[in-house]
Amino acid sequence: MSDDASATGLEIVRTIADLRARVSAWRRDGDVVGLVPTMGALHEGHMALVRASLEQARRTVVTLFVNPAQFGPNEDFAVYPRDEATDAAQVADAGVDLLFAPRVEEVYPEGYATTVRVPGMGDWLDGEFRPGFFDGVATVVAKLLLQALPDVAFFGEKDYQQLQVIKRMVRDLDIPATIQGVATVREADGLALSSRNAYLTPEERAAAPALYRTIGRVAERFAGGETPAKLETWAAAELTAAGFAKVDYVTVRDAETLEPVQAPERPARVLAAAWMGKARLIDNVAA
Ligand code: PAJ
Repeated sequence: MSDDASATGLEIVRTIADLRARVSAWRRDGDVVGLVPTMGALHEGHMALVRASLEQARRTVVTLFVNPAQFGPNEDFAVYPRDEATDAAQVADAGVDLLFAPRVEEVYPEGYATTVRVPGMGDWLDGEFRPGFFDGVATVVAKLLLQALPDVAFFGEKDYQQLQVIKRMVRDLDIPATIQGVATVREADGLALSSRNAYLTPEERAAAPALYRTIGRVAERFAGGETPAKLETWAAAELTAAGFAKVDYVTVRDAETLEPVQAPERPARVLAAAWMGKARLIDNVAA
């Protein structure tokens, strides 16, 4: 089953069999295939991944699947923004070849039982505040990579821990795809683009850039020799003063392993998650 998006070259498929048929034909022709996994509600952050793929790969597949396995029972799965027609038009305009938009039963048919877990890294930070989240992400990304078998798959640095968990999983499971990170796309005032920014009131939206500003200051001061413990306390107070109701974490970690670091010896990353109204915002910068 497949739908054609009007006059563009985009084809929409909903089954793994159709996805595999298209990709294996391209691979037989020697085309490099790029994959961009998304949950839809596409914005310029997603489109940066799409453009990176269009530049590097002869063929680009975008996946659109709101993955129930990565939402907790009290999270926003039911209300997560869904608008396939708008998303399809956007990727068609960009020149994407294929949109894979499976139904939940195609990905998790009756009797589905397997979970991919990345213990350690996947249990920290967002893994602690959103139990099971990275199991859901690792499982669906492993499935999407094995379903599509792309040469390269693109993920945003916006979700930095997710990117590191996926890199670890792909190495550990010998999945034959290169995982490539793409820099975070931001609004002019620094706020990282996110589908969840739509949950912010105008006042909350105005206050939200404090997150990026604060972690930027932490990165500078860490490079200048201040300790993570002191900086984390300072940053949490700063975010609270700016209007964040709850700070889940602000922390300086090793950029690859995400283990705590004490001094700027190896590449590090400042990561933060905090609640502004109904939105849980996350962001990170290099330190
Ligand atoms: P989603 O939130 O739709 O994001 C899809 C991809 O877009 C992710 O790799 C994310 O890091 C990237 N992205 C989002 N906002 C960005 C921004 N402002 N700048 C750069 N990249 C950005 O992340 C997921 O979906 C899911 O967990 C998924 C990987 C699809 C698995 O279900």
